[in-house]
Amino acid sequence: MLRQQDLGHRIVVRRIVGIREGRPLFSDALGELVELSETHLTLATAQGPLRVPVAQVHRAKRVPPTRRPTAAAVVALERAADEAWPAPTRGGLGDWLLRAADGWTGRANSALPIGDPDRPLPAAVDAVERWYGQQGQPAMINTPLPLAAPVGAELDGRGWGSRPPTLVQTARLPLSLSGAGRTPRAGSATAAGSPDERPGAADEAALDHASVMIELAGAPSEEWLAVAAGRKGGLPDAARHVLTAVDQVRFAHGYANGTLVAIGRGTVTGQGRWLGLSLIEVLPAARRQGLARRVIDTLATWGASAGATHAFLQVEQRNTAAVALYQRLGFTTHHTYLTRVAPH
Ligand SMILES: CC(C)(COP(=O)(O)OP(=O)(O)OC[C@H]1O[C@@H](n2cnc3c(N)ncnc32)[C@H](O)[C@@H]1OP(=O)(O)O)[C@@H](O)C(=O)NCCC(=O)NCCS
Repeated sequence: MLRQQDLGHRIVVRRIVGIREGRPLFSDALGELVELSETHLTLATAQGPLRVPVAQVHRAKRVPPTRRPTAAAVVALERAADEAWPAPTRGGLGDWLLRAADGWTGRANSALPIGDPDRPLPAAVDAVERWYGQQGQPAMINTPLPLAAPVGAELDGRGWGSRPPTLVQTARLPLSLSGAGRTPRAGSATAAGSPDERPGAADEAALDHASVMIELAGAPSEEWLAVAAGRKGGLPDAARHVLTAVDQVRFAHGYANGTLVAIGRGTVTGQGRWLGLSLIEVLPAARRQGLARRVIDTLATWGASAGATHAFLQVEQRNTAAVALYQRLGFTTHHTYLTRVAPH
């Protein structure tokens, strides 16, 4: 059966989906194990997340990855992602990074345990707990999987909790935007069928696409910050640092008839290789009309012109709308991570 050490690995699960003539009916599912509790497991499959009650699992085992990135590739991408989301307060523990930003977002307020912490693992976790205690913040550790699975096992033993799994996804530039077929044109919002048939489409009003403008700026407008604050629960001072303290950064502002309806942020880090996409958001009334795609397209064009060859982003595995959007644009999961939180 599966164990916590299997998190982040590719797994095949044979589950019992029914009984016919007294015999069990089986169905197999394949994907990365992103969650494992006493009652359920969750796989990130090519079709999206699949949550399986443990009681339905007949057999489950690891299978070799198709194209698993090397540990060095995970480390390089995690460092590029750290550069793209820089915490203003930083410390080190050997190779491990310690980061704090007034509690604004898990990524900027968690230790990144990659490389050698220069001491045995239990002492390293003790030191992380002390450092966050000095910052007056709860200790958190971001564990990229399967790379940091040993750290995860140590934290399990200490009763640390976990936030929902996050997928780190990548795609080559240019993105395959052409594969994304259905964008309503001006005055034809029902061209692809009734909006009611589409999840997330209930409140939308048809946009005149000719009136939509995506502008890139070197700094976020106050309106842009207000949208980001709404989603991320306010913006402390440290948040402005996290957002802007990157050499190559652009803020996408999507206006419809002069009103800001979509935002996004792009960075180029990791020695110029990686376009990082973050804070992609479209106001609810303007969703499912291709705006997120246009924002990403604009940022991707900028990133490529700045020399980036690949794009990455981080998305909560349970955010089905965003996962579907990124899948449509050709993103695949490079690795996953869990943000672990010390018990109170
Ligand atoms: C995710 C989000 C940015 C998508 O914005 P959007 O402008 O509605 O997306 P688009 O219209 O460009 O969608 C392009 C494609 O993505 C997929 N997609 C987008 N939203 C989807 C949803 N709710 N369900 C299923 N697929 C969806 C579809 O394939 C869609 O194409 P289609 O409409 O032709 O079927 C938007 O739902 C949002 O702002 N969510 C809250 C913020 C958020 O979660 N941001 C991502 C953080 S990582």
